Amino acid sequence: MLILGIETSCDETGVALFDTQAGLLSHALFSQIAIHADYGGVVPELASRDHVRKLLPLCDQVLSDAGRTRTDLEGIAYTAGPGLIGALMVGGAVAHALGFALDIPVLGVHHMEGHLLAPMLEDNPPAFPFVALLVSGGHTQLVRVDGIGEYQMLGESVDDAAGEAFDKTAKMLGLDYPGGPRVAALAEKGTSGRYRFPRPMTDRPGLDFSFSGLKTFTLNTVNAEKKSANGLSDQTRADIALAFETAAVETLVIKCRRALEQTGCDRLVIAGGVSANSRLRASLEKMAEKRRAHVFYARPEFCTDNGAMIAYAGAQRLKAGQRDGERIVAVPRWPMNQLPSLTEVRLSGLID
Ligand code: KG4
Ligand code: ZN
Repeated sequence: MLILGIETSCDETGVALFDTQAGLLSHALFSQIAIHADYGGVVPELASRDHVRKLLPLCDQVLSDAGRTRTDLEGIAYTAGPGLIGALMVGGAVAHALGFALDIPVLGVHHMEGHLLAPMLEDNPPAFPFVALLVSGGHTQLVRVDGIGEYQMLGESVDDAAGEAFDKTAKMLGLDYPGGPRVAALAEKGTSGRYRFPRPMTDRPGLDFSFSGLKTFTLNTVNAEKKSANGLSDQTRADIALAFETAAVETLVIKCRRALEQTGCDRLVIAGGVSANSRLRASLEKMAEKRRAHVFYARPEFCTDNGAMIAYAGAQRLKAGQRDGERIVAVPRWPMNQLPSLTEVRLSGLID
């Protein structure tokens, strides 16, 4: 089954072509970073307008890259949420219009399920069950995954998401949007041991996260250094970036270790933009090695938003018979454990 995947939930227009037999055939991405950089964050209306400009040309590009045409398509998957409502509507409208014109099934996909399944696009994909750490700009969640749509929430952030904490730290340090990769690059130049930042909520049991205290601690440190005799020097900025990154990563590692212990799983999947972070990957691998567990993640370009993950997740569900009705689905907030399992999808097809 040849599926076109469309991602437009935020500031990247991502498109991909996935074949359920041959795998990923092509993918393309347009990042809006330059459009939003002057504003220090995503401007929703500008995001929607640019998706309108880029989406159809990117669809044509992935088709021609794979030597296919629109009439070869057998299904279309688009991100239905969570995300910015205007941006989601662009992807949903294009997907439904194409699906209607070509008379093929269309399905709205959950963005975080897309992230969660992205490591399946790599060689040696993880087998079920596994524990997944989802770390993006809007989410920090630990999930037990027994199959597609079989998600048990183990813990999540009670305030800021991990990526959000990286982005806010970047702003405090005078770095451009998006901050995560820039904080990580600056931390490379830092000297360890100069500061010790808190590891929030690690001193008590449980798998929830909180990053707002760490953010405030970072802000207070930056402000104190600004007032000091030397001011906020380049080395101090790098030392703060490293202290922040080390604290955030260690917090995530502690909770992942607990989640593996609690569930008895020996496979850990990390997904979402922050899973591209090399310190996080290395620290989790070190922890996993001690437990004889394995860590799985996608190539960096499939950790951040992309069309391939939506094509993959949509293909699994479309193949099982799941599809939208005639309405475009766009859901800004959408808990992932509301999704049906593939068994439920197949059974409801039999009942219909
Ligand atoms: O998954 P994603 O592309 O979009 C959302 O669904 O939110 O994640 C974006 C987030 C941003 O907060 C970005 O700063 C962070 O992922 N990020 C990183 C890295 N690359 C992206 N954070 C830390 N280190 C990185 N290398
Ligand atoms: Zn995302």
